[in-house]
Amino acid sequence: MQHDLSNYRKTYKKQELLEENCPENPIELFRDWFLNADESECVDEANAMTISTFGLDGFPKNRVVLLKKYTWEGFIFYTNYNSEKGKAIQQNNNVCLSFFWAGLEQQIIIKGKAEKLPENLSDGYFESRPDGSKLGAWASNQSEVVKSREFLDNQLLKFEEKFKNKEIIRPKYWGGYIVKPISIEFWQGRPNRMHDRIKYTLNEDFSWKIDRLAP
Ligand SMILES: Cc1cc2nc3c(=O)[nH]c(=O)nc-3n(C[C@H](O)[C@H](O)[C@H](O)COP(=O)(O)O)c2cc1C
Repeated sequence: MQHDLSNYRKTYKKQELLEENCPENPIELFRDWFLNADESECVDEANAMTISTFGLDGFPKNRVVLLKKYTWEGFIFYTNYNSEKGKAIQQNNNVCLSFFWAGLEQQIIIKGKAEKLPENLSDGYFESRPDGSKLGAWASNQSEVVKSREFLDNQLLKFEEKFKNKEIIRPKYWGGYIVKPISIEFWQGRPNRMHDRIKYTLNEDFSWKIDRLAP
């Protein structure tokens, strides 16, 4: 079987990214792009991002997670600390996040260090989740092989029973990471493949160096 996609071609022409519009701090630019993406009708789940890690098997792996908060310090998401990604981060906390908003012809690539959030912050976020999601965190040993769908459904029933009329507390193996950026690259598609790429790199004094990269 072969399916040739060599004629797939798109001209990018919606916007530009010029140095004069780049603030000193990339989190500000991230906020501007994010707010725009979030309001845009052509972007669904603007907060969906890939996180890539170096796995214990030596391979990189990307998967999608949801950005739940960003601050001047970094980008926060929640997961199971015992998952494949959790184990990968424990071994090597250098990670890469990326957003691709096709409708806006924009990509953002963030390299950084992932650190576990303080427990009280994970508790606070866990409390804000709907009960079904809380129980899901108990019922699923994320990334482990399971016998069947039925097994998973039974696990959920088991924990529904266990926490009936009780507060559903956060499992210790579930919580947040903050990814503290060391570089953030903004990519804006332009005609003729002459895209705009502006990369911010963190200096030792915590200021940011701004470079334009060739497309
Ligand atoms: C749109 C979308 C959002 C997701 N959000 C999360 C999330 O916030 N946290 C999470 O652990 N997994 C999330 N997942 C599932 C992950 O992609 C992945 O399957 C899971 O975290 C297990 O990954 P791992 O086995 O590599 O650790 C999401 C998947 C999709 C498609």
